[in-house]
Amino acid sequence: MRTEATIMLATDIHYLSHALNDEGEMFRAVMSNGDGKLTERSPEIFDAFLEEARRLRPDAVVLPGDLTFNGERKSLVEVLQKCARLMDVGIDVLVIPGNHDIAYPYAARFEGGKAYTEDAISQAEFRRLCHGFGIRQATGTCEASFSYTYELTTGTVLLFLDANTEKFPGGLDAETMAFAEREFTAAGAKGKQVIAVTHQNVLRQSPLVFYGFVMQNESQVKKLLTKHGVSAVLSGHSHMLHSASNDVFTDHATGALTTYPLCYAVIRIKDGTAPEYEVRELPVFREEAKRRFDETTERQVRKALEGIRIGDREKKRMIGFAVEINRQYFSGKLEKESLAGEEWELWQKHAKDTFWCKYFRSMF
Ligand SMILES: [Fe+2]
Repeated sequence: MRTEATIMLATDIHYLSHALNDEGEMFRAVMSNGDGKLTERSPEIFDAFLEEARRLRPDAVVLPGDLTFNGERKSLVEVLQKCARLMDVGIDVLVIPGNHDIAYPYAARFEGGKAYTEDAISQAEFRRLCHGFGIRQATGTCEASFSYTYELTTGTVLLFLDANTEKFPGGLDAETMAFAEREFTAAGAKGKQVIAVTHQNVLRQSPLVFYGFVMQNESQVKKLLTKHGVSAVLSGHSHMLHSASNDVFTDHATGALTTYPLCYAVIRIKDGTAPEYEVRELPVFREEAKRRFDETTERQVRKALEGIRIGDREKKRMIGFAVEINRQYFSGKLEKESLAGEEWELWQKHAKDTFWCKYFRSMF
């Protein structure tokens, strides 16, 4: 068995099969009220990621949930077909479900001005469909959730923890907690380090926006992982690229693959040393993704400023500032100097009590 390994990670792909989307009126309406993902290009963006994986030849590819746009079974099947081709060249693909993947009520196909209900994915069905992408390769599995242990190297195990069961959506249920405890103890007894993989964050990635992004049983999970000295957590769900640390570990939340700047992570593991986490960006659809993200911020900010008396020129400057700052923040490229200057003064003068102003302040 190896003592060093590389993994590639892409999260929140939110893949929508082209068979479910004609890019018509209804789909465009959904996008213009959405959260800034470039969903209509999700199949091609995922292909580009898989292409990178073929080039880079990691030991494993990790997909920590929200594989599908809104839990359509057809989207999941397509994602898995593509993953199977990567497995054929000897790269293990390891998945867990996200909150959008299990029993999601909005699974739909978009045609013209309408959305038609599509088959969603039950927890049992996810387990059956995804068995070959984690459970089959595992050295330990949990019956209550899609949680499992994967031996990566002689001294490192990946512990996949599923917080999206039908029984307890958003947190680790009692059985999964007990499973994690057992696996940590077993790894510890053999002197192995554990890297946990989750969909929801274990640590708060923002002091303001964390509700619904961290685990429902946040303090319990944090306590368990801290007690056992987990080496690192690899998560997603917040769609934003950010790492948060406590005294023991860092939770690396990788941004959504289909949200600007279309990033994925490359993690190098060498037994006996801390994992090295590096972020890369896909070279495809960059302008389209940026435009979608910026338009989304602009729409939300414009709405938040409605009803506040601000001159058109000043409002335009405030919106421009918000778009720039939010993009930098999501890309993990926030510059300290950005929160200065006249535009920031305008925000404090006209809109200091809005969510957005508090949000900008919370970033620093
Ligand atoms: Fe999610």
